[in-house]
Amino acid sequence: MCGIVGYIGPKAVDSVLIVGLEKLEYRGYDSAGIAYFDRNEISIIKEKGRIADLEEQIKKYPVEGHIGIGHTRWATHGEPSKVNAHPHMNRDKTIAVVQNGIIENYLELKTELKSLGYMFISETDTEVLPHMIDRYVKEGFDLEKAFVKTLHRLDGKYAIAMIGEKNPDRVYFAKDGAPLILAEGENLSGKKELLLASDVPAFVPLAKSAYYLNDGEWGYFDSTIHLFDRPGAQINAFMEPVAIKLEDISLGEYEHFMRKEIYEQPEMLERILAERIVNNETIEFSELKFPREYLSKVARFIIQACGTSLNSGMIGKLYLEQVAKKMADADYSSEFRYRNPVAGGDTLVIGISQSGETADTLAGLREAKSKFLKVLSFVNNINSTIARESDGVIHLMAGPEIGVASTKAYTAQLTHMLLFAYHVADISWLLTSEEKRDLIKELKTIPDKMRKILQYETKIKEIAERLKNRNSVLFLGRTWNHATALEGALKLKEISYIHAEGYAAGEFKHGPIALVSAEVPVVVVAPKGEMRTKLISNLQEVKARNGEVFAIVTEGDDELASLADAVLEVPESSEILSPLLTILPLQLLSYHTAILRGCDVDKPRNLAKSVTVE
Ligand code: AGP
Repeated sequence: MCGIVGYIGPKAVDSVLIVGLEKLEYRGYDSAGIAYFDRNEISIIKEKGRIADLEEQIKKYPVEGHIGIGHTRWATHGEPSKVNAHPHMNRDKTIAVVQNGIIENYLELKTELKSLGYMFISETDTEVLPHMIDRYVKEGFDLEKAFVKTLHRLDGKYAIAMIGEKNPDRVYFAKDGAPLILAEGENLSGKKELLLASDVPAFVPLAKSAYYLNDGEWGYFDSTIHLFDRPGAQINAFMEPVAIKLEDISLGEYEHFMRKEIYEQPEMLERILAERIVNNETIEFSELKFPREYLSKVARFIIQACGTSLNSGMIGKLYLEQVAKKMADADYSSEFRYRNPVAGGDTLVIGISQSGETADTLAGLREAKSKFLKVLSFVNNINSTIARESDGVIHLMAGPEIGVASTKAYTAQLTHMLLFAYHVADISWLLTSEEKRDLIKELKTIPDKMRKILQYETKIKEIAERLKNRNSVLFLGRTWNHATALEGALKLKEISYIHAEGYAAGEFKHGPIALVSAEVPVVVVAPKGEMRTKLISNLQEVKARNGEVFAIVTEGDDELASLADAVLEVPESSEILSPLLTILPLQLLSYHTAILRGCDVDKPRNLAKSVTVE
C-alpha cells in the first residue's frame, strides 16, 4: 500500500506535505514525491528512497505555494525508482496525480492511450491517470469532467489525488476501494486549511475534524469541500472529531515505534479491561450490535485473517472451543476466500485485522457475505473498510500501531478474542459467576506481569547477541502456545531477516528435527501447564542432537531452566492466559536481534504496514 496526502491552506505546502508523508511512511517507503502549484504552474519533486531523501531534494529548490499533493510508495507495478515514484504527470506537465491502490485494467488503458499517441515513461499503473485526464481535456471537457470520465474508465481499487493547471486553486480526490480521508483545520490565525490523506496520523495535530470517504465518492476542495457521490450528486461531508493525539503517533522518548508499542501493552490491556469489564463480572462490547440471542445460537465460528492477526486468531479458535464450547476454525484469509467454504446460517465468520484494510481479509469478508454469512470483525481502525463492511465490529482499542511488525495489536487481539469467548459462554449460560470472577481477577494481574517481563529486557538483549549471526531459528510450542511459536518466528523473520519457522512441537519429529544442528537454535515456549513435560521432551531431543535451546519458562522453573542453554522468564499464569505473556520476550528478542543486525525495525525491507493488494 502507499500513502497519499493533499493540502490547501496558509502554510508552506512542502512542509505540510512532508510532515504528512512522514506520518504515513509506515504505509510504504521505497520512494516519495510532491507536486504543488508555484505561481499557478505545477512543480514536482520526487526521489527514490525515504522521505528524508525527498526532503534533501526539496531543500535544493525553494518551494513557494500553498496547494499540493504528495505520495510515499510501496511498489506494486514497477521497481522502486525515481521515474516510478509518484506524482505522475501528463506530457504538458499541467496535471499531476498520486494514487494508492491498483488500476487493474491499466494495460488496456495504456494501450488505448498509446494508440492516441501518448508516451509513457514509467512502469506504473498510475501513469495512465494523468494521460487519460489530459486526453479528455484535449477532447474539450473541463478538468473536472475529464477527471470524472477517467474515474469511470477504471477497474480496481484506488484512492487518488490530482491537481491541474486549469483549476490551480483546487485539489481533486476520488476513493474506490482504498482508504481516503478529508480533514479540516485552521492555523493559529484562524485561517482554514483543508487536507486529504490515506490515514488520520497524517493530519495530526493540524486537523480537528475528518470525513472518511465512501467508495465511489469524489470531489475537490478549494476554500471548502465539494463532495459528490458516484452518480455525481453533491453530498455533505459529515465531519467527525479527530480522536488521535500527537503523542499517540510520536516516538516520545523511544528510538523506535516497535519498542514503544511493546512497552504500551500493559497500559493498553488495563484500558481494554476497564472498558470491557462491567461490575467485575460481566464482559460487554458496547459497539457490538448483534442481539445476544443470535450470538448464543451461533454453532460455528470461522476466523479468517493474515499474518500476526491469524496467529492471534488461532488462539482465538482455542478460546471459542475451550471456553464457549463452540466449533471454531481459523484459516488464512488468502485460503478462505478461494476455498468456497461450506457453512450455514449458524456460522459466524470472524475477521481479525489491525489495519482493517488487508485485501485478503476484506476479500474473505466479502466471500462470506456472498454466501449470506454474517461477519464480525475485530479491528484496530474502526473507520476502515473491513469495519464498515462487517455486520458487527469489535474495536481492538490498541491505539495507533505504527511499527510494521505488529505487537500491541496482537495482544489486543488475544485479549478481545478471550473476552469475546467468555461473553459468548456467558450468554450461553456456560459460566458460573465464580468462574467469571476468577477469570477477570486473573486477567487484571496480567498488565503487571507484562511489566515484569519488560524488566528482563537486558537479559533478552544478551540472548539476542547469541542469535544475531544465525541463519535460521526454529520456534516450538503446543496448544495455547503453538501460535506463540508461529508469532515469535514471524516477528524474527520480518524485522531481522533471519529465516525462522514456528512449529507445533508435536510435529517436530515428523521432519523438522532434521534441521537441528549447532547452527540452528531452537526456541521452546514452555510455560507451566499441561504441555510442559511434553516440551521438556522436545527440548531434550534437541539437546541430544547437539542443538542449542532457548526456553520461555515460568519464573522459578529451575528444572526446565537447567536443561536449556538460556531462558526467557515469564510470571506464572493459567495456561489459557499464558499467550498474553509468552509473546513479550519474543517481541523483544526479535527487536534486539534486528537492531544488532542493523535492520530498520520500524520499516523492514519489502514490507508495508497493511497489505492492501492481493
Ligand atoms: C505482522 O507483524 C505483519 N506486519 C503482518 O503479518 C500483519 O499482521 C498482516 O499483514 C495482517 O495485517 P492486518 O492485521 O492489518 O490485517
